[in-house]
Amino acid sequence: MTPLTQTPAWKALEAHHQTVRDLHLRDLFAQDPARGRDLAIEAAGLYLDYSKNRITRETLPLLTGLARERGLRERIDAMFRGDRINVTEGRAVLHTALRAPRGTVMEVEGHDVVPGVHEVLDRMAAFARGIRDGSRKGFTGKAIRTVVNIGIGGSDLGPAMACEALRAYADRNLQFRFVSNVDATDFREATRDLDPATTLFIVASKTFTTQETMANAQSARTWCLDALGDPAAIASHFVAVSTDAAKVAAFGIDTANMFGFWDWVGGRYSLESAIGLSTMIAIGPEQYREYLDGFHAMDEHFRTAPFERNLPVVMGLLGLWYADFFGARTVAVLPYDHYLRRFPAYLQQLVMESNGKSVTLEGRRVDYATSPVWWGEPGTNGQHSFYQLIHQGTQLIPCDFIAFARTLNPLGSHHAMLLSNVLAQTEALAFGKPAEAVAAEGTPAWLVPHRTFEGNRPSNVLLAQRLTPGLLGSLVALYEHVVFTQGALWDLNPFDQWGVELGKELSRRILPELEAASEPDLAHDSSTNELIRRLRSAGQ
Ligand code: F6P
Repeated sequence: MTPLTQTPAWKALEAHHQTVRDLHLRDLFAQDPARGRDLAIEAAGLYLDYSKNRITRETLPLLTGLARERGLRERIDAMFRGDRINVTEGRAVLHTALRAPRGTVMEVEGHDVVPGVHEVLDRMAAFARGIRDGSRKGFTGKAIRTVVNIGIGGSDLGPAMACEALRAYADRNLQFRFVSNVDATDFREATRDLDPATTLFIVASKTFTTQETMANAQSARTWCLDALGDPAAIASHFVAVSTDAAKVAAFGIDTANMFGFWDWVGGRYSLESAIGLSTMIAIGPEQYREYLDGFHAMDEHFRTAPFERNLPVVMGLLGLWYADFFGARTVAVLPYDHYLRRFPAYLQQLVMESNGKSVTLEGRRVDYATSPVWWGEPGTNGQHSFYQLIHQGTQLIPCDFIAFARTLNPLGSHHAMLLSNVLAQTEALAFGKPAEAVAAEGTPAWLVPHRTFEGNRPSNVLLAQRLTPGLLGSLVALYEHVVFTQGALWDLNPFDQWGVELGKELSRRILPELEAASEPDLAHDSSTNELIRRLRSAGQ
């Protein structure tokens, strides 16, 4: 494949960037009154206003031209067809099958995987109903009151985000907690006020080998046995979610209490697989289906809409435009809905574990920027923290604002205030406040530069009617496909994560060195050796 930066479409974008980079959004809007109406796309319940981006009407056709030249259409088709596009792990990538309606056919190596997906969904539904209506009791006969999900990365961030996002739809008689960190503080604080007789642990791990999860699961088991006194209690208080039945059994969880998924579901793409069991218990199987339908609606849009009207494709291409042509190193995700407060953390794994790579599928080092750092906080809190830098700092930080027309918690003017802030921020970022306007207000000359907003800072606004299970599904699928689009254009494999391995390997070597009774022979670098000695002599 021709290197990305050598392609005609890339060269055309470079030339185009020269003509666009000094244009101000103030002028672009002044010259094109229909811009705010026209540069918008609506799909699967989401309205994207992308007019406040540093683009002209020529930019998107050039970007979609690049997408065509780089075979994005073929890559999308290959994913939905179940090809083994995760080449470095030899796996298909078919998380879209997890939300496919019953009766859809999606194949891996000629085998339709959708019936298996629904079989697991049906078992999850029966289990979730049992917990919700109290018929599936704990070992001592008491109903389950608290569900503790033990998992990390994709086995934690997705369900933790979804449970929080859909709290308004959840059974308020149940509480949900998430333990991920190997730091025992996480487990201790999550369980200190819980009654083991009314607690259910979901041990969620795709591989069932992850150090943190296995350590927390062992501690949970001990905590449970210490209180309930009988190994038979484990069956009533532990279920597993994994792709590896043998490892689940070896851990001591009966596979009758296991909900499976498959190697064609990546960890960070698994929140609506059985990894979403906590979410299903929270909102019930019917609303969980609405959640899956939201994903599916966005999948269908992504699969079929022309690139120029394709929400994930357009957002993905705009992200590439800033990363590669404007040198943007970060992207801020700013949900104006408190229920979405874990959304940026969830997105960080999705985006950065997927496209935080620097070699192409053919193993060549890239000579262009790949994924920026993604970060964010809910509005309006962030406004009183880091927005200063977005408005007046030296970096260009494209922002995604997410807002809902209706609130789930009407209270006086709160929601109008919230919305007025989203609109004000995106307007201020784009148009700023020129020095002349500041001076005209009678500002002393020496203060004018400090109070001037240069503007021209780009943002997307994603609007939806209301945060519902279905809408959350669409929103997650949107970003999954943004990541896919960018990975395809950057010629990366967004579905492996070799970069996390070395640290795991080294920690396995260091652990016995920290715990050894007598001074071990240390053969690390002098810094690591010294730190180990210091920690050993300090005790734990
Ligand atoms: O270490 C990274 C990672 O493999 C993630 O990709 C994954 O989501 C997480 O660990 C947890 O893995 P598992 O679900 O297998 O415990």
